[in-house]
Amino acid sequence: MKRTVFLFVFFHFWVNGVLLAQNGAQDLFNTKCGICHTIGKGKLVGPDLAGVQDRHPQEWLLNFVRSSQKMIASGDSAALALFEQNNKVVMPDPMISDAEIESVLAYILENSAAGAGAVAYTSIIDGATPEDFENGRQLFEGRVRFANAGPSCITCHNGLAKTFFNDNSFSVKDLSTSFANLGEQGVRAILENPPFPVMKQAFTGKNLTEAEVHDLLVFLKKSGGSGAQAKMPSGLLLFGLLGAGALVLLYSALWYSRKSRSVNHGIYKRQIKSLN
Ligand code: HEC
Ligand code: HEC
Repeated sequence: MKRTVFLFVFFHFWVNGVLLAQNGAQDLFNTKCGICHTIGKGKLVGPDLAGVQDRHPQEWLLNFVRSSQKMIASGDSAALALFEQNNKVVMPDPMISDAEIESVLAYILENSAAGAGAVAYTSIIDGATPEDFENGRQLFEGRVRFANAGPSCITCHNGLAKTFFNDNSFSVKDLSTSFANLGEQGVRAILENPPFPVMKQAFTGKNLTEAEVHDLLVFLKKSGGSGAQAKMPSGLLLFGLLGAGALVLLYSALWYSRKSRSVNHGIYKRQIKSLN
């Protein structure tokens, strides 16, 4: 009995190992990394990984892929520099085994040479019209609904949201610099296949259509400007300020009633009195 269990377990690992070596690495790369990285086809959300083995030692790569944030927190200078250069976009932990990480790294190494010199990205928004921009704005602000019922961008990407929700569990970026930092290719990849857990979940089964992606790109590019001194459209700013004002009032009200038990008590007493 014991022996059969042993053989079964052994066989299981053996089969897994063989499968992993064959297709596993490519699948793993495509599902876990390919949303944000290419090998030799240019930057997406993260850097092009072609030749990454020439840039870092193997041990560093293993640690970084296992948990980039842990490494950044530990103060590793190469990791910190990359994080800064990439606009502090968080690379999530892939939640795969060390063996799997090694197989993915081997896959990247194998394909680094093949991918080099690949075709450059061609813009899909050249020749966009003012109507496209306006439609993009309305989609972003939720004035026009998405065909597949996805949530409007402004529910999470309010220019001022960062000040209020900036804790680690839910930090939402001001998008005014995204276009300058990520380029059209990077922003497009995010819209077509959001890599950030919160945003991904919000759009699961509610993909943006090709036309919506197009118009949103036009809007984000124009309203982002060069990225240095980006201006959001004034309507958006006003909306943000009103929202901020409402939140300040809300929070002070919540804080007030929580802090001052005696006030509640006073109200309670008044109510009891008026009942009598
Ligand atoms: C959500 C997008 C995202 C995913 C998914 C992702 N990465 Fe990254 N990756 C980044 C970003 C952004 C950086 C730049 C460093 C930073 O911002 O932390 C990066 C940096 C790297 C680097 C260092 C690159 C260099 O030029 O030195 C390696 C190596 C890497 N990623 C490998 C992987 C592997 C392997 C996977 C899949 C298991 C993966 N990444 C999944 C976004 C991602
Ligand atoms: C449910 C909330 C939510 C919605 C709705 C949402 N996003 Fe996001 N988005 C996020 C989060 C969270 C991030 C990651 C931000 C971070 O890394 O700090 C993000 C990141 C981004 C980024 C990358 C920002 C950067 O510069 O690194 C872009 C671009 C973006 N979103 C565009 C959009 C657009 C366009 C829409 C509307 C179609 C949208 N998002 C809707 C939550 C959301």
